[in-house]
Amino acid sequence: MLKVAKHKPVIHQLEAHPYVLSHIQEVIDIASENGILTSAYAPLAPISSHPTGGPAKPILEKIATRLSKETGKAVDAQQALLLWFRAKKITPVTGSHTASRMKQQAAVQQLPDITAAEVAEVDEAGLKGKFAVPLVVYVLVLTGVWVWLFGSLLP
Ligand SMILES: NC(=O)c1ccc[n+]([C@@H]2O[C@H](COP(=O)([O-])OP(=O)(O)OC[C@H]3O[C@@H](n4cnc5c(N)ncnc54)[C@H](OP(=O)(O)O)[C@@H]3O)[C@@H](O)[C@H]2O)c1
Repeated sequence: MLKVAKHKPVIHQLEAHPYVLSHIQEVIDIASENGILTSAYAPLAPISSHPTGGPAKPILEKIATRLSKETGKAVDAQQALLLWFRAKKITPVTGSHTASRMKQQAAVQQLPDITAAEVAEVDEAGLKGKFAVPLVVYVLVLTGVWVWLFGSLLP
């Protein structure tokens, strides 16, 4: 696209969070090399949609605990994750229907950066994390749909 585009994109958006890092790092690098900014949708997926939070969750909680002690503010894992995006120079497009969470998201601007070692720890945990729905869930859902649709035809 860059070879033929009349106007180079200024910014692109993709799903980005630690658990998709292995798929997106190359795209982010290409964008960065070409002066194109990256923004992320679903940035809080590890916290809001992962069934357990996965391997990055304890790391984010550890970072939040350290920052809480050092700043005297009640820093949470959501904020630690948003700080990871800041360190990665990716702009997260986040949101919430909950006023207290919105305030926490906005308050990230007043928090210090996380360390390079912490960024590396989140990366490492993210690369171990899986975000796929287990096959057994698909099988159970499909079986349920089949029984719901055709159950009345059974003897
Ligand atoms: N995901 C996509 O495919 C996509 C694509 C393009 C644009 N967008 C837009 O991007 C914006 C952000 O949406 P997103 O889903 O991509 O962003 P996200 O930041 O990954 O997730 C936002 C959701 O996370 C939940 N959340 C926030 N803090 C939490 C916490 N501490 N613990 C548990 N859950 C927490 C919020 O739930 P509560 O509301 O209950 O607080 C909110 O619904 C939206 O305006 C969306 O329309 C999304």
